Amino acid sequence: MKGVILAGGLGTRLMPCTKVTNKHLLPVYDKPMIYYPLRTLVNAGLKDIMIVTGGNNAGDFLRLLGNGKEFGLKDISYTYQEGEGGIADALKLAENFVDKDKMVVILGDNIIGDDISNAVKEFEKQERGAKIFLKEVSDPERFGVAEIEGDRVINIEEKPQKPKSNYAVAGLYMYDSDVFEITETLKPSGRGELEITDVNNEYIKRGTMTYSVLEEWWTDAGTFESLLRASRLVRKTLKENKSSG
Ligand code: DAU
Repeated sequence: MKGVILAGGLGTRLMPCTKVTNKHLLPVYDKPMIYYPLRTLVNAGLKDIMIVTGGNNAGDFLRLLGNGKEFGLKDISYTYQEGEGGIADALKLAENFVDKDKMVVILGDNIIGDDISNAVKEFEKQERGAKIFLKEVSDPERFGVAEIEGDRVINIEEKPQKPKSNYAVAGLYMYDSDVFEITETLKPSGRGELEITDVNNEYIKRGTMTYSVLEEWWTDAGTFESLLRASRLVRKTLKENKSSG
């Protein structure tokens, strides 16, 4: 199983902070944002990890993380996304690295309170297809939103004006290598990007999509509001862990 962190894009929603650095290097409480998705993957036992980055400050990832020694890794693979073609466009760049393996993909601005080790083990056993992670939120219109029927997700809508549920699709996805055949067929959306939601809907159409609901907290950190929320959640968790341990 390979791990892929998508940390490209231009972070325009965090201007002017992202004028001179990459969004994923900004602090979330006491660490750079990229530390959190990397920690999520490492804690789940993943050792082969690629970071897809972009923009003018891509070299700073190497200065910050190097070969990932601080995370107990032997090395980290890096690749570079030109422009801001979307999440699925960034994922395409991991094809040679992942090869025929399965993968866990996490967005560089998603901070997850859950330990995903068990979900990774479950997905290792899943013969094929994909697995997504949902979380009930009060502002679903900011996210991909899942329509659920029984125990199945039957459709995902990207940032709908009238969400069909309160279940946001988190920026954490597990795929088999069919994903690279699917990304080849995508057309840019209204916002000019290759959408990960279109990838997920194709797996739903094929009947090979499963899902889990995140139990702990989850947030993105790509807007000033969510960046602040992320810092607060991390601080709260650190304090709770300190007082219980
Ligand atoms: O946070 C979860 C949400 O992330 C999902 O619910 C949505 O379905 C999904 O589309 C995405 O929504 P956003 O519009 O918030 O994604 P954003 O453009 O902020 O990109 C999130 C991360 O993806 C970003 O931190 C880095 C990576 N990315 C994004 C783009 C557009 C890339 O690596 N390359 C890109 O071109």
